[in-house]
Amino acid sequence: MNVIHRKTFFGMFGSGAFSGKPPLYTGTDVEPLLAFSRTFFPKTVIEIGIQRGETAKCLLDNSPWIQNYVGIDVAPSHRTALPVQQSEVPKQPGELVKNDPRVRLIVKPNGSRDVTPAELPVADLIYIDGDHSKTGVLQDTELARKVIRKGGIICWHDYGNPAVPSVTKAIDFLNGKGGNAICLIEKGFLCFEFCRNGK
Ligand SMILES: C[S@@+](CC[C@H](N)C(=O)[O-])C[C@H]1O[C@@H](n2cnc3c(N)ncnc32)[C@H](O)[C@@H]1O
Repeated sequence: MNVIHRKTFFGMFGSGAFSGKPPLYTGTDVEPLLAFSRTFFPKTVIEIGIQRGETAKCLLDNSPWIQNYVGIDVAPSHRTALPVQQSEVPKQPGELVKNDPRVRLIVKPNGSRDVTPAELPVADLIYIDGDHSKTGVLQDTELARKVIRKGGIICWHDYGNPAVPSVTKAIDFLNGKGGNAICLIEKGFLCFEFCRNGK
């Protein structure tokens, strides 16, 4: 895994500062997402695992250039692949952003497992933060790589998080197959890939 020094990252991509509390799950890893947004001005963003929408709200409030934000999650009755994730399933997926006209919520019994590429727009930025099982991360990556535009960015959350080691396993597997293209931002759990191949 290539690791970029946090200071180097923000030196290259600019500030990720924002006012208010960091989102519950993404925490300060929202800062690199914001720095990407302020550098590349994504028009279309997809978040797999939007939960209540805390990260979505932070990105949308600080990125007026975002035109479409697709948030995917599971229905409240869903049983998560990893028991440790069960408490994360929201009662109302995307509730914090549902009134933002830029937002489209896709809520299905099995979340992204039930979503086909045809249902998604070509995206400039995709944030994968849904099912953290190895199979889940690999399937979400496959879906994301089918709809990311050429030159777009895919980000994954929770690499290196000891609570969900399967994310690390999945990304190490992807890097082993794909020439180490996914890079971790030091002192956090966020990693990213610039997609040369895409739509
Ligand atoms: C860690 S939380 C996401 C936090 C959110 N990204 C944020 O920053 O506020 C994980 C989310 O993934 C959702 N999830 C679990 N399995 C999923 C699946 N197969 N498809 C989509 N979402 C899934 C959970 O319901 C939960 O909302």
